[in-house]
Amino acid sequence: MARKKISVIGAGNVGATLAQRLAEKALGDVVVLDIPLVDGMPQGKALDIFESGPVYGYDTRVKGTVKYEDTSNSDVVVITAGLPRKPGMSRDDLLLTNAGIVKGVTEQVVKFSPNSILIVVSNPLDAMCAVALKISGFPKQRVIGMAGVLDSARMATFIADAAQVSVEDVQTMVLGGHGDTMVPVTRYCAIAGVPIGEILKKEQIDAIVKRTAEGGAEIVKLLKTGSAFYAPSASVVAMVESILKDKKRILPCAVYLQGEYGIQDLFVGVPVKLGERGIEQIIQLNLNVEERIALQKSADAVKELVEILKRQQVLS
Ligand code: NAI
Ligand code: 2OP
Repeated sequence: MARKKISVIGAGNVGATLAQRLAEKALGDVVVLDIPLVDGMPQGKALDIFESGPVYGYDTRVKGTVKYEDTSNSDVVVITAGLPRKPGMSRDDLLLTNAGIVKGVTEQVVKFSPNSILIVVSNPLDAMCAVALKISGFPKQRVIGMAGVLDSARMATFIADAAQVSVEDVQTMVLGGHGDTMVPVTRYCAIAGVPIGEILKKEQIDAIVKRTAEGGAEIVKLLKTGSAFYAPSASVVAMVESILKDKKRILPCAVYLQGEYGIQDLFVGVPVKLGERGIEQIIQLNLNVEERIALQKSADAVKELVEILKRQQVLS
């Protein structure tokens, strides 16, 4: 069986850690690309990961490069190129700079891997997905944003910690845009199938919801020179694995909605089935009025960014 090929664009904190995690999982051969300005850096990191194979026990080929030719015919391409958030900077401050980067990257990626599935990581996530969709011209099933898996993982961590149970028994669901307006849907959060409302106190749940929504900023405040990358890269691996192994996992991802959840022509996080064809189904949860209002508010925040990109001609 031919090996799968995964390209990671941007060999920074998220990209390099992702390359390592992908290599260790042996999901396919990995190419890591960064800009010529840092020629040597992606090659050095990739070689270092490649040379870990004999110790760790994987045969994954890992190649670093500054040339898009090396990403040719990738099955999955993960876009992590862009600036990360610095303290005091919102995800939205990154908008125009990263939109330019994601546009340029997408143009190159589709030239060499026209049949790939794109996973976008760069922030502000939902708006960058819109750029990747527009520039790639790919069907919406093949452009997917990573955010919900990370936000749900953060929430699961906090729930497991508060209830003193294994994270393996915690299910969470965070919808909406990847920003302060994200919607942790507590009604769909459970410990071994038991709704968290029956196990944790309301004050505990409220604190967990707040901490989840501020999860990215909490790490930025601690790190001071960048943003999270261990949990983000782990989250991308879950998505890549579900696609390449056609596992059909149901994961919250940023996807282009065209009427689902009453949201039109915007990338917003909702649960989807991920398989070899990319997004194979959008799962429609039966949200109550309060949840629907919160999701709409979150979608409105995404729309504001998209409107800025339209005014700046990035998306028109
Ligand atoms: P980083 O600064 O460590 O790495 C970014 C890399 O992108 C750098 O190596 C840089 O040289 C490269 N790059 C810049 N322009 C490029 C171009 N045109 N082509 C190829 N490579 C280019 O940043 P980090 O921490 O890896 O974060 C990357 C992005 O992911 C940021 O925008 C960050 O906000 C976002 N992010 C999103 C998350 C999510 O949940 N969606 C989670 C974590 C990070
Ligand atoms: C996060 O949530 C920075 O978006 C990134 O950690």
